[in-house]
Amino acid sequence: MKKTCLVTGCAGFIGSHLTQSLLDAGHFVLGVDNFASGYVHNMDGFIDNAGFTFYERSIAEEGLLAELKQAHPDLDVVFQLAAVVSVPYSVEHPELTMQINFEANRDMLDTAKDLGISSFVFAGSAAEYGNEDRLPVKEEYAQDAEQLSPYGIAKYKSSAYIEDSGYGCSLRFFNIFGPRQDPTSQYSGVISRFVDFGLAGKNMVIFGDGEQTRDFLYVSDVVTAYLIAAGLDEQGRGPLTGIYNVGTGLGRSVHELATVVAGLTSAPEGIDFKPERAGDIRHSRADISKIAAEGFKAEVAFEKGLARTVDWAMKSKS
Ligand SMILES: NC(=O)c1ccc[n+]([C@@H]2O[C@H](COP(=O)([O-])OP(=O)(O)OC[C@H]3O[C@@H](n4cnc5c(N)ncnc54)[C@H](O)[C@@H]3O)[C@@H](O)[C@H]2O)c1
Repeated sequence: MKKTCLVTGCAGFIGSHLTQSLLDAGHFVLGVDNFASGYVHNMDGFIDNAGFTFYERSIAEEGLLAELKQAHPDLDVVFQLAAVVSVPYSVEHPELTMQINFEANRDMLDTAKDLGISSFVFAGSAAEYGNEDRLPVKEEYAQDAEQLSPYGIAKYKSSAYIEDSGYGCSLRFFNIFGPRQDPTSQYSGVISRFVDFGLAGKNMVIFGDGEQTRDFLYVSDVVTAYLIAAGLDEQGRGPLTGIYNVGTGLGRSVHELATVVAGLTSAPEGIDFKPERAGDIRHSRADISKIAAEGFKAEVAFEKGLARTVDWAMKSKS
């Protein structure tokens, strides 16, 4: 059945992929973005699609969801991705971060529930676990985590609010990568930087010994998790309620990443090691057993996802 879906953050990296997939599947999409970190060109693939309506608005505007529901009575699914996405920015602007990443979510969730909207899916984050050293990280560990930043605190409060309400779902994503990712992102910006070094024929620069690991998930698998969570999956998986980690369950080292990208860009395999950066988490890897029990499994292999990302980066630079 075709649905009308709201995607907040539709001009961002993940939101633009989700919007494109929903439109490709024949759904209608209302997109909201204020371009705080997104770009008009991220919407090039769908801005003229008849099924897409764009609103340049902020999710912090009171009554936004009720207004959209009044204008589009069929609106039945909310994907809440818009957020302050930079951890350093959140440290400099803790109040704004709390307003966007917690209060706006809370108000939108309450409104969605009151309006009888079927699905509400929120973009949670591995940052909710702070510097957790028990691996793989299980969903319940966040309760006693010391979140390291206003970003992590606000995301954690949103996820906890969703779980307590018994309505909606928070997907806690680890490190997402793919075309259109932001090179400055704390999650996977390292991939864009390695691609830049590789294409320029320069040595890769690694901070620390390169043995730090992350759980990298390709963006199309993220879209699949969103569709499952909202009950829009073509294979009939979902919908989901509560909090779910989303990752591959595998840790990949930054050194391994540099080596694969060097191969894909035909760069020299030289690496310049620089001193470790303060505050960097050593290892991060999701326990994915909860979402795996719902039928989710990452489909795109790390090397294949990297090849697609490098290909996109090369095309966008030429
Ligand atoms: N990229 C990752 O690896 C990752 C990992 C975990 C969680 N997340 C979460 O996923 C979501 C999407 O992240 P992304 O990587 O696509 O980032 P992004 O910056 O590309 O996308 C976020 C979008 O939200 C928009 N936005 C910000 N504040 C807004 C507001 N007040 N009103 C309307 N729009 C607003 C931005 O302009 C941008 O287009 C975020 O909530 C982020 O915290 C991302």
